[in-house]
Amino acid sequence: MADKISDPKQSKGKQTVTLTDNSTGKTCELPIMQGTAGPRVVDVRRLYAETGFFTYDPGFTSTGSCDSAITYIDGDEGILMHRGYAIEDLAGKSSFMEVCYLLLHGELPTKKQRSEFERTITYHTMLHEQMLNLYRGFRRDSHPMAIMVGVVGALSAFYHDSTDISDPHQRMVASHRMIAKMPTIAAMAYKYSVGQPFVYPRNDLNYAENFLYMTFAVPCEEFKVRPAVARAMDRIFILHADHEQNASTSTVRIAGSSGANPFACIAAGIASLWGPAHGGANEAVLQMLHEIGSKDKIPEFLARAKDRNDPFRLMGFGHRVYKNYDPRAAVLRESCHEVLEDLGVRDDPLLDLAMELERIALEDPYFVEKKLFPNVDFYSGIILQAMGFPTSMFTVLFALARTVGWVAQWQEMIEDPHHRISRPRQLYTGLDKRPFVPISNRG
Ligand code: CMC
Repeated sequence: MADKISDPKQSKGKQTVTLTDNSTGKTCELPIMQGTAGPRVVDVRRLYAETGFFTYDPGFTSTGSCDSAITYIDGDEGILMHRGYAIEDLAGKSSFMEVCYLLLHGELPTKKQRSEFERTITYHTMLHEQMLNLYRGFRRDSHPMAIMVGVVGALSAFYHDSTDISDPHQRMVASHRMIAKMPTIAAMAYKYSVGQPFVYPRNDLNYAENFLYMTFAVPCEEFKVRPAVARAMDRIFILHADHEQNASTSTVRIAGSSGANPFACIAAGIASLWGPAHGGANEAVLQMLHEIGSKDKIPEFLARAKDRNDPFRLMGFGHRVYKNYDPRAAVLRESCHEVLEDLGVRDDPLLDLAMELERIALEDPYFVEKKLFPNVDFYSGIILQAMGFPTSMFTVLFALARTVGWVAQWQEMIEDPHHRISRPRQLYTGLDKRPFVPISNRG
């Protein structure tokens, strides 16, 4: 059935598009919606009721699943804003705790609000002691993301007093708990994998310092967090805090739309983040750089990335929304040099290789035409490795930082009086109805 969407026009004071079913000549007026910024949106909510059509959009490349006032991305211009603030300003002038407050409450905190918020988060960092037994049930060689999915899901078994999603106070307590406990859960996943004792949080340290301390300190000697490393860690958290309706955030919203408890929803988000096309890409970038090994091998790997018959892709390149340099990658590229310098790493061969790969790819017609630019994951792995994190922890750090985005988006959805369970439809391509064949007649 052939259809066309006409140019937008004014109708009853509202802009609409007209959908014409060429086989019957029937038309349908669809309202156009306009956000504060970004492309206009055709409202298809009444499409099925009025025409009997569904829309077909696997991968949701043309579909807005919700309205949101939290994060804005202009992929063509390489712009990312949270609550109207540019990511470059937040990364350069703010702190992760402020950004958490901003995402949750819509405004940057006053001094008083910031210290109260920091205090609240600080005093929720410990885990229920019985949760330690959960870790001991995992194999020592478990991927820390597997532990994260399990332990975060299990929070709902320990914190019953914050699982009633109809109570705004409980929703906020659950959100604070997850932001506060995620560094503890992540650091413990790491400690378990290396066979070291768990390190309890310290209330005199800030969020990033505390995470580095719980990850790298051991009980037998004093551990001092390097200020430059803590600053870089905090900046990495800011850069990963939210990114509108990506796969994991959409997963959290879909899980939450059924009324599931917040801990279960965030565990679902962590599972979705794990894949190499999403949060797992930072781990994959380092593996790729090691595989390439030296600058003279770059052309060979670029040729593979361009070969349609080869599944190899240049990890850390390309993005569904950014058709320009990912602004987060630009900030991280700078941070990379600062951190390596602070750690006394001069002429890091991996960073050299990454920069050369970036230079060559950005001049290559394939990457230019397809608008494939470095994304946030391209440089984050190099910094994290220099800080001492094993590659298996990279996606865990992403999950830790993204938790605030997930909970802010989840809260926004629950507070929306019009929210309904998410239930996409399908284009059925299976067999039509046929008679049941008894097993005795199946050959
Ligand atoms: N290397 C080589 N070719 C690529 C790449 C790449 N990294 N990314 C996309 N392409 C090609 C792709 O083959 C396709 O070519 P054609 O039109 O000839 O079929 C075209 O570019 C469009 O790609 P797509 O797969 O249709 O785009 P998408 O929006 O579905 O996928 C993506 C986006 C991020 C999954 C993809 O670019 C990719 O796999 N990149 C590598 C993984 C990565 O770095 N992921 C991290 C994303 S940023 C962090 C996050 O949000 O989690």
